[in-house]
Amino acid sequence: MASVGIKDVAARAGVSVATVSRVLNAHASVSPAARARVLDAVAELGYRPNTLARSLRTDQTRTLGLVISDVLNPYFTELARSVEEEARALGYSIIFGNADERPEVQDHHIRTLLDRRIDGLLVSPADGGSALVLDAARAGTPMVFVDRWIPGADVPVVRADGRGAVRDLVAHLYALGHRRLAIIAGPAATTTGSERVEAFRDALAEYGLDLPAAYVGQGDFQAASGRRATERFLDLPTPPDVVFAADNLMALGALDAVRARGLRVPHDIALAAFDDIPWFVHTDPPITAIAQPTGELGRAAVRALADRIEGRTPQSVTLPARLVVRRSCGEAAPPEAPTEAPTEETPAGRSTP
Ligand code: HPA
Repeated sequence: MASVGIKDVAARAGVSVATVSRVLNAHASVSPAARARVLDAVAELGYRPNTLARSLRTDQTRTLGLVISDVLNPYFTELARSVEEEARALGYSIIFGNADERPEVQDHHIRTLLDRRIDGLLVSPADGGSALVLDAARAGTPMVFVDRWIPGADVPVVRADGRGAVRDLVAHLYALGHRRLAIIAGPAATTTGSERVEAFRDALAEYGLDLPAAYVGQGDFQAASGRRATERFLDLPTPPDVVFAADNLMALGALDAVRARGLRVPHDIALAAFDDIPWFVHTDPPITAIAQPTGELGRAAVRALADRIEGRTPQSVTLPARLVVRRSCGEAAPPEAPTEAPTEETPAGRSTP
């Protein structure tokens, strides 16, 4: 059977081709009765619009690229989910690329997406980013950075600010009597890697505490690096009494390392993580974490990109992260009640629209 075209739909619905087109492109200026007839005709005939032809006509693909640094990191998985949901609500599809923390893989995805004429690009740069990302932005590709960003690039950034939450964490640790605080950092080339160490160091300084070099473990946001850094901390003549992992995967590696020595969290060493993930509630003990509003970040990033594509000038968006106290640092109550009380059933940062 010959394929069904837009003229067939118009004939079946008893309206013009232009009206069918308006219905399919969600224009408001169609009467509800005509819209219903068109949608019925589309369903009866099994019509599928030729988006390739439409893209050639409109020079738009209604497709956004999303390039994130590590899809296996639950933070980015949740981010991708909210990006896709918001994009779909705004009439865009997503083509997704996982950079696997490698700038050359990131660039491969970006090249492919540009070749496919995506309308805009959301990027959480791997490592420190790349010349290709900057060139694409300079050449006018609508782009928004989400979570990580490249300093100096003229690209709006949608991210969380963890400083306040890191300060709350240090206050909580201090109140529990901890004085030797160590961090497993992410790669210094990433903004999330460097910012989290700086925030931690500054918060310690407010309490008159130092962050000695021996208490800064260098990680790569992967679990194995969290395990190795923690083993080194435990081998020190004076091990720290807290390990703060700068992401959730390194925290899981740290927990493994502590257990492998027959030690217990928090009795022998306390543990906290940046980024809350659903299963931190289920670990033994449940892990104290800094939760980002991940779902809201993803949605805000898509809205900013849609604004940019549609000719508006989006601003950067910074949303606060917050501390979720559980039992991995000790048993005391939090120093003060958070404004939006976290519960163990609803790990923070999960999208609750
Ligand atoms: N890396 C790993 N985990 C994260 C990051 C990051 O850049 N941002 C938020 N969670």
